[in-house]
Amino acid sequence: MPIYHQLGDIPRKRHIVFRSPQGGLYAEELIGNKGFVGPASLLYHAHQPTHVKQTRRMRDLQWESDPERQFRHRHFRTHQLTAGGSLVLDRVPVLFNPDVAMLFAQPTRGDDFFYRNAQGDEIVYVADGAGVLETQLGDIAFSQGDYLVIPRGILHRYTFTATPVRCLVIESTGYVRTPRRYRNEHGQLMETSPYSERDIRRPTNLRPRVEKGEFRLVVKKENRLHELVVEWHPFDVVGWDGYYYPWAINIHDFEPRVGRFHLPPPVHQTFEGDHFVVCSFCPRPYDFDPSAVPAPYNHSNVMSDEVIYYASSEFMSRKGIEYGSITLHPDGVPHGPHPGRTEASIGAQRTDELAVMLDTFRPLHVSRQALEIEDSDYYRSWLDA
Ligand SMILES: [Fe+2]
Repeated sequence: MPIYHQLGDIPRKRHIVFRSPQGGLYAEELIGNKGFVGPASLLYHAHQPTHVKQTRRMRDLQWESDPERQFRHRHFRTHQLTAGGSLVLDRVPVLFNPDVAMLFAQPTRGDDFFYRNAQGDEIVYVADGAGVLETQLGDIAFSQGDYLVIPRGILHRYTFTATPVRCLVIESTGYVRTPRRYRNEHGQLMETSPYSERDIRRPTNLRPRVEKGEFRLVVKKENRLHELVVEWHPFDVVGWDGYYYPWAINIHDFEPRVGRFHLPPPVHQTFEGDHFVVCSFCPRPYDFDPSAVPAPYNHSNVMSDEVIYYASSEFMSRKGIEYGSITLHPDGVPHGPHPGRTEASIGAQRTDELAVMLDTFRPLHVSRQALEIEDSDYYRSWLDA
């Protein structure tokens, strides 16, 4: 994140002697992407973070795609998936390509281990539930409607305070950031951006834990989960500063744009990744000209696959969609409002829709697991009854 942040105790200068009250040296660690030139934070541990006692391979994460590679508009009902397990270990892949994956999780327990994704950044959209994202850089309390952005390499653990918990997880090969066009040349979000730094929640409540024992870390690397056992509690950071840390923003802190006539989805853009964007459709008044058509026009997403997760049951242009639905409208066939929805939208004053959209610039694969929750007639739903 392009906002400098600091928590806990840090020395006057980087890379100088910095001791605990007992006289021991704190262990300095740089966490950052792109080697030593990307966004980074500098951490001070009570103990060396390098003390690994054991490692073992846990399991491979096989993301298998629909063997038929069916080409049509798709609709998946995520709430038909069985709830259970851990938010980080029991994610069900729905759609994926080399740049980005969309997964769904309905965890029923917090974790007694710590998790690090060493191959991707994560955007976790909290559709239901509440809790605390504990990290080595501090805590972020979360609740319904929050996006949690967790850059790769950040060790973390979830605890839940309200259930059920339902999360849409977007795993990204590239660095997840605020859209470039919202930032000025100095990195600040501009007045014209639909959200500002004030809406971005950074870690708080740094609680260094100095405990010796056996602590389990689960690390995802090259589509495989590994378990590491370390000797010291990994949340032993007494202070840190920098630009690389987890952050959160609530979907209702995204200020929707409204025009005299229909504005296209780029006005809803919330995040930027490599070869994909994420947009938020939020409750808002409709277009304000009396002759405006609020429903979207038909469109062909040339060079882009479009995915929408419906975070409430209302969506102005779709029928047969429920809370928790995911639709995939692939490049190669147009899509648009369902029959009657364009006419019905004329004169409407506002919408309460809430949805998360993922637009990918390379084709998406449908997972095998998603076939089990597919409404396979969805592609015919534009036919007149
Ligand atoms: Fe669309």
